[in-house]
Amino acid sequence: MMTETERLMACVDGRRLWRRHMRMAEHGGTENGGVNRQALSEADFAARRQLIRWGQDVGLSPYRDDAGNLFLRMQGSDPQAEPVLTGSHLDSQPTGGRFDGAYGVLAGLEALQALTEAGLRCRRPIELAVWMNEEGSRFAPGMMGSRVFAGQDTVAGISSVRDADGIPVAQELERLDGLFADVPRVPPGRKAHAYLEAHIEQGPILERQSTAIGVVTGIQGKYTYLVEFRGQEAHVGTVDLAERKDALLAAVAAIDAMAAEFLGTANGTRFSVCRLNVTPNVPSVIARKAEFSIDLRHPDSGELGRLHRRVEEICRAHAGPCEVSVNRLSAADSLEFPVQLRELVRQCASELSMTHIDILSLAGHDARYLHRVCPSGMIFIPCKDGVSHNEAESVRAEDLENGVRVLAAALRRLAA
Ligand code: GLV
Ligand code: MN
Ligand code: MN
Repeated sequence: MMTETERLMACVDGRRLWRRHMRMAEHGGTENGGVNRQALSEADFAARRQLIRWGQDVGLSPYRDDAGNLFLRMQGSDPQAEPVLTGSHLDSQPTGGRFDGAYGVLAGLEALQALTEAGLRCRRPIELAVWMNEEGSRFAPGMMGSRVFAGQDTVAGISSVRDADGIPVAQELERLDGLFADVPRVPPGRKAHAYLEAHIEQGPILERQSTAIGVVTGIQGKYTYLVEFRGQEAHVGTVDLAERKDALLAAVAAIDAMAAEFLGTANGTRFSVCRLNVTPNVPSVIARKAEFSIDLRHPDSGELGRLHRRVEEICRAHAGPCEVSVNRLSAADSLEFPVQLRELVRQCASELSMTHIDILSLAGHDARYLHRVCPSGMIFIPCKDGVSHNEAESVRAEDLENGVRVLAAALRRLAA
């Protein structure tokens, strides 16, 4: 006779999982084989609709909250029991890959389908969550949906954030409301028993060590900023050098000084400036405004706090005749996931004879905010050459399947 785990594993379908990834990647698919499915875009809405259809075919009931999060619920035998949550995000970077986020969602769907097909009714409900705007590329900062769900922000707080075209989150949430009027809506946030998120590693460690599963120990801290230098527009040929207020030169000097100081030490600091907007951005007019993003990460929260003070000091020190404002958009300290969940993932991987190692997540994830709601954890799988936030992101089908197997076994134990 088959054990319960054997029954469950017999129902995990790796080919179905792969097919769904390829179908999902058509929503916002790019010419280069990647995905442009930014938060609350047409492609994001189409991806959600697709997921709802797949979920309903498996007997899951969709509902959503005011923060634009989507949930697919598998009923438990005790409807009063706090649910177990799994999931990730369906939004992508503008030149993103097919697996970042989508994997956690489709892995959750496959796990719930396998539980259903194996006839394993759980006591607790299990809900597959799709968190709104994890990436933060269209509307910054990211992790909006999970942050509101965790009570760390409000719907009003995220509503006024605008994209590069001036469209506010509120307007797109309204569109979502109209398009998904058939899906019941609830206020954001509630208690949960546990949260387990599967994700590709987005780094090279698991692949290099030929390891199937990463037991995620925690997530390194991350602060994000919008820095604005303000000078004065002037004719490049005629303005006296002593009178120039060149916002771009001041910004470049500040960026250069921060890079030299933060990246010059080998202490694990990740400092990146990935967006620079210059106004008026024409060849013969001194820049009136230069605005740039900073993404600052470190595994040690104390060190992150020190770096934060230096960001402000260095930007001010390089303002020269310009004005500067340093606006911290988000501040998430380093976190460690609870040992019980890490041990559960380890045990499930061992019992399924999969190699595993402990690993710290250097990327950010919605689990960061769920960690404030309930015991949370993550399962990593390898990705090719550690490439991510890149259209070339690639994962082997067998690695996708391995992660689902561990996820399904762990969800069963959490919800049993
Ligand atoms: C998520 O994409 C992050 O690491 O910021
Ligand atoms: Mn992600
Ligand atoms: Mn990402």
